[in-house]
Formats: sequence, C-alpha cells, structure tokens
Amino acid sequence: MKVAMFDTHEFEKKFFETANQNFNHEITYFEARLNVQTASLAREFDCACCFVNDSLDAETLCLLKCRNFKLISLRSAGFNNVDLKEANRLGLTVVRVPAYSPHAVAEHAVGLILNVNRKFHKAYNRVRELNFSLDKLVGFDLFNKTVGVIGTGRIGSVFSKIMLGFGCKVLAYDHKPNPELIDNKNVEYVDLDKLYRLSDVVSLHVPLIQETHHMIDASALKKMKPGVILVNTSRGALIDTVALIESLKSRHIGGAALDVYEEEEEVFFHDLSSMILEDDVLARLMTFPNVIITSHQGFLTKEALTNIAETTLSNIKDFEDGKALVNQVKEILT
Ligand code: NAI
Repeated sequence: MKVAMFDTHEFEKKFFETANQNFNHEITYFEARLNVQTASLAREFDCACCFVNDSLDAETLCLLKCRNFKLISLRSAGFNNVDLKEANRLGLTVVRVPAYSPHAVAEHAVGLILNVNRKFHKAYNRVRELNFSLDKLVGFDLFNKTVGVIGTGRIGSVFSKIMLGFGCKVLAYDHKPNPELIDNKNVEYVDLDKLYRLSDVVSLHVPLIQETHHMIDASALKKMKPGVILVNTSRGALIDTVALIESLKSRHIGGAALDVYEEEEEVFFHDLSSMILEDDVLARLMTFPNVIITSHQGFLTKEALTNIAETTLSNIKDFEDGKALVNQVKEILT
C-alpha cells in the first residue's frame, strides 16, 4: 500500500524500515505534521500514518478524503487527535496500535517518581560541579506508602504491580476494575475522593476523553494529600496546568512528574534549544525545582518501537487484504 507517514522522527524510522521488510509497503516519510496546511503534501497515497501530534480534525480528514486516502493508521494507542465522527461520516477507516509495551510507559512513570522524590536531577548536576553536599536532597521511602492509580488498564495495571513490588499499597480508580488486580490484598478500588485524600503519589493512566479532560483541576488538587507527588504519563490535558502551577506555588503539591503537557504539540519532539520559548505556562512550570518534565518519551524503548512498527504495518496489510481489523478504532470508543 502507498503510505504517507507524517511527523516522522529519526528515532522511529529504522524500526519501520526493518519491520517493512516483511510487508513491502511503499512508505514516504514526511517530517511535517499532518494538519490542514500539510494535507496537500501527500498526493496519491492510500494511507496516512499518523502520530500523537498530527491533527486529524474534520477539515484535515476532508482534505485526505478528497485526495483519495482510505485509511488512517495511527502509530499510537491514544486517538484523541482524531475526529472519529467525521472519519466515520467520510468513510475513512481508523486503526491504531492499542498496546505496544505497557511496560515502557509504566517503567517511565516509576522512573519519574524516583527522580522527583530522590532528586536525581539535582544530584546529577551537583556532583558534576563537584558539589557533594546532600542538603535539600532528602526524599521519602516508597515502601509502605500509598499510591493512587487512576486508570488500571494495560499501563495502569503494570504500573500498579511495580509499585506493589516496592511495598506500596495501591488505591485504584477505574470504571472497570481490572480482574488481575482486584483480588490483591494490597489493592483497593476506591472513589476518587478517597484516592486523593490518602495517596502519597497519584499517577494518571486514563485516556483523554471529554469526561477526563482537566479531571485534575483546582478542586481535585485541593483534595489531594499535602506533599503528594502527581505523575502524568497519559495525556497532558488530563491536568489543568494553570491550576497545578497554583497548587505548586502554594506548596500543597509536593512534586509533579510529567511526560505529557496539554500544549505539547508546539514544543515536544523538537529541538528548540536556540529558540525563545513562547509558552509562558510551560516556562513557569519548568522553574519549579520539584517538577520533572520529559518530552512524551514514555513509549521510547526498543521493544515498544518494534511493536509499534510491526503492528502499524500489519494493520495496513490487513486493511489492504480486506481482513477483519482487530485494531480498528470505532466512534463508540470515545
Ligand atoms: P487502556 O485502555 O488499557 O486503559 C485505560 C483505562 O482507563 C481502562 O481500564 C478504562 O476502563 C479506564 N477509563 C477510561 N475512562 C475512564 C474514566 N472516565 N474514569 C475511570 N476510568 C476510565 O489504556 P492504556 O494502554 O493503559 O493507556 C493509557 C493511556 O496512556 C492512553 O490513553 C494514552 O493516552 C497514554 N499513553 C501514553 C504514552 C506515553 O508515551 N507517555 C504511550 C502510550 C499510551
């Protein structure tokens, strides 16, 4: 199939080249993100292969349809960047990679917690400058602490099991409790208020949908235990960033570990080191000594990238062969 791959990054290209040896799709790699302006780049393709920051809004989808595209193949699990209703209306099929390595994201979340708690980022810089002082580096044992896990699907359940390994108690919140966790004596499904009230760490693993947009707002933050570490490796807009900044300023939140940010499209995945940062909210967030930000890299392991490439290309092949699409995203999922 003729595939236009948008928002291609160096880190993923070689995984796609290797995987494509088994599929032989004709892939053209575009660095540009897909949006209304760039949709015209791709002519005579059958499939648009998109990533988390490509914008598949109604207008862009319409342009793709006019150019004869048939398939949107997302090389991500999240699909909040696609107007599924419009895709449906236009007869465009959408497929995704529902799971590539929940371990990659869950382990990254744990790494971020350790970092914020034990202040590795500070320690690393200090030691490099021959400052071997330990002042202001005190953290806390995770052992015996309570970790609130919001969303216990694939990633949230792996994350919960790792935290159980640290000797933590897990308070979980999910529409559908996970059978793998429900019988564990150290896991308790609770309502959000209880989770906020009792958790020393709160980690977000629900998708971004209308219902979860800004679920961590000023009121939720106020309900959290003073000193809590808030972790978000899911989607930026789960958190109202301005409210988080206020909560950090008031010293209520003890730390934040963020792999995603609600306005990340303009910033993440780019080298802006010689530019002036236009985003004042992100700039303020980066000034806090107790905030760690990574640039949406939770998925960035060899295993996950291999799975992403293989599943994406296999989804495209299944569509081409008229097979049942096990990874199709239907409107009803939103
Ligand atoms: P999943 O679909 O396996 O789990 C999501 C869980 O959230 C499900 O158990 C579901 O019942 C629950 N849920 C959904 N809406 C809810 C609501 N309103 N209230 C309570 N529970 C709700 O998804 P998975 O694979 O665990 O991924 C979670 C999220 O992680 C994705 O949506 C994506 O945004 C993010 N992600 C981030 C990556 C990164 O690199 N940082 C990479 C991959 C995914």
